[in-house]
Amino acid sequence: MTFDVDRIRQDFPIIHQTINGYPLTYLDNAATTQKPIQVIETVDDFYKSKNANIHRGVHYLSNLSTDLYEEARHTVQKFINAAHDYEIIFTRGTTESINLVAFTFTQAFITQGDEIIVTEMDHHANIVPWQQIALRIGAKLKVVPITDDYQLDFEAYTRLFTEKTKIVALPHISNSLGTINPIKKFIEFAHKHDVPVLIDAAQSVQHEKIDVQDLDCEFLAFSGHKIYAETGIGVLYGKEKWLDKLPPYQFGGDMIKDVTFEKTIFQDLPLKFEAGTSNYVGAISLKAAIDYITGIGLDKIEKYEKYLLNYAIDQIKQIKGITVYATKKDNKISVLSFNIQGAHNYDVGMILDQMGIAVRTGKHCTHPLMYRLGIPGTARASFAMYNTTEEIDRFIQAVKKAKQMLT
Ligand SMILES: Cc1ncc(COP(=O)(O)O)c(C=O)c1O
Repeated sequence: MTFDVDRIRQDFPIIHQTINGYPLTYLDNAATTQKPIQVIETVDDFYKSKNANIHRGVHYLSNLSTDLYEEARHTVQKFINAAHDYEIIFTRGTTESINLVAFTFTQAFITQGDEIIVTEMDHHANIVPWQQIALRIGAKLKVVPITDDYQLDFEAYTRLFTEKTKIVALPHISNSLGTINPIKKFIEFAHKHDVPVLIDAAQSVQHEKIDVQDLDCEFLAFSGHKIYAETGIGVLYGKEKWLDKLPPYQFGGDMIKDVTFEKTIFQDLPLKFEAGTSNYVGAISLKAAIDYITGIGLDKIEKYEKYLLNYAIDQIKQIKGITVYATKKDNKISVLSFNIQGAHNYDVGMILDQMGIAVRTGKHCTHPLMYRLGIPGTARASFAMYNTTEEIDRFIQAVKKAKQMLT
């Protein structure tokens, strides 16, 4: 495997430390990724020499800051191949992006008795906003089930559509299982019914190339912190034609052209959806992160992470008494969810932590999925480009030890 992981590891200061006397093995990347020095230094330099509020000043620093913010928008546009930079809205993260669509789309298009399609595999961020709105308005949530081999059931999906279906919201990659959903097929089918689609790409943009024009989705959401940028910055992509039809989400400064006490004229895209002072430093950190990964090559990162995942699956499957969820290698990435039979996932996580290994335990914000699987949760190891096979070996040894101690 020709991927210079040693070189890449040098860019991530945090991973070179010991925890509980062991070298840190950070396998909690689906929760958040660590930051390369290039991102850290961009933010540091920005505060030391460039900071001023955007869009508001005639002075040098304000113009500079505004230019860098708009450059970041342009970088995101290129990264996901959006047709226009004003189709990129900066938000706080995936959760806010989905809430933005859920609230404004509902205001514009959904009434009592209408139907919204989500999936059994969704993160709460793509269930609860739709569910709560449906409850308020008397709309109905319809759910795409998963099959016994952890895939979205496409046949069942096709049967959910009626003339009342108004929108489909589904995850590209499951944060609990790592399953890559064939979203293009799902989008094409929704379009046959003239139904728009929102894609939750929180777990995919960091692992594989996204082309929103090729996917033809109406909306797509992701978070900066999962793609090596700061926390508190996220993206909502929306097709111009749809964003234009939606009312603003929040009101205040920056999103207006003119205000009197009688009425307000809103800004055009994208500012119509960016009320108040945006997290412009976060956006600039997102540009640095995207420049960093595109500099390495997302295709190379994807290949290497698949190699790591397959290496880990092959090893963990050899341990008797372990249940590994969703092991179909050809449509899975980065996430390895498992349980030691007879042990609680929390205890497994605690023992791994004693050996410096960071994994996530619990329901991973996917309670309905865990209820469907009939389990209280899983231990989840998730990989990023700076992980190594040596780290996976350490992880496997630690799982064996946890098994010995707990069963
Ligand atoms: C699939 C998926 N969707 C949405 C989210 C929510 O992301 P954020 O908390 O950054 O808004 C997550 C976070 O784990 C996720 O994995």
